[in-house]
Amino acid sequence: MENYRILLTEEQIQKRVKELGEQITKDYKDKHPLFICMLKGAIVFFSDIIRNVKIPVEMDFARLSSYRNGTVSGEMQMINDITAEVKGKDVIIVEDIVDSGKTLSYFCELLKKKEPASIKICAFSDKKERREVDIEADYVGFDIPNVFVIGYGLDYAEKYRELPFLAEVLDPSKI
Ligand code: IMP
Ligand code: MG
Repeated sequence: MENYRILLTEEQIQKRVKELGEQITKDYKDKHPLFICMLKGAIVFFSDIIRNVKIPVEMDFARLSSYRNGTVSGEMQMINDITAEVKGKDVIIVEDIVDSGKTLSYFCELLKKKEPASIKICAFSDKKERREVDIEADYVGFDIPNVFVIGYGLDYAEKYRELPFLAEVLDPSKI
């Protein structure tokens, strides 16, 4: 038996991504937003979203890493920054999951200094229960419970990102 339980099937995910794409298409009609993919986890969601918005897309990629040891959640580090011009642009940050909210809050503060016309967050999943800083996504694929999830880009120790569904890890010690 697999050590995970499926929470969202591929069909459920694809249906929801299409809805989000339609919503963004409506909201950004006649605009040309800059989509920023938060690597690595958001890569799968990002590639689905950009193919479901029917507007011209500019894209860039950012990778942040946070040091966490024990309960002390540490500093953020920029591993790969975006290179696109941000000033005056309508930015949509695409993230796999909002957990404590620290990654997005840190990244948004950096972005604001570059004077975009607007910033919105599009998150595939949201663990609202876990929030530690005051940040909300504008587009949310699914609210999920406070469990560790894998698949659809999300990993456990760099495994399972390729699974087309979202699953809850049952026994992390067995991975
Ligand atoms: P935050 O800064 O605490 O909001 O952390 C967000 C990041 O933590 C996400 O982009 C994920 O990479 C990672 N993360 C949080 N929860 C999970 C999970 O359940 N599975 C896999 N990665 C997770
Ligand atoms: Mg991530």
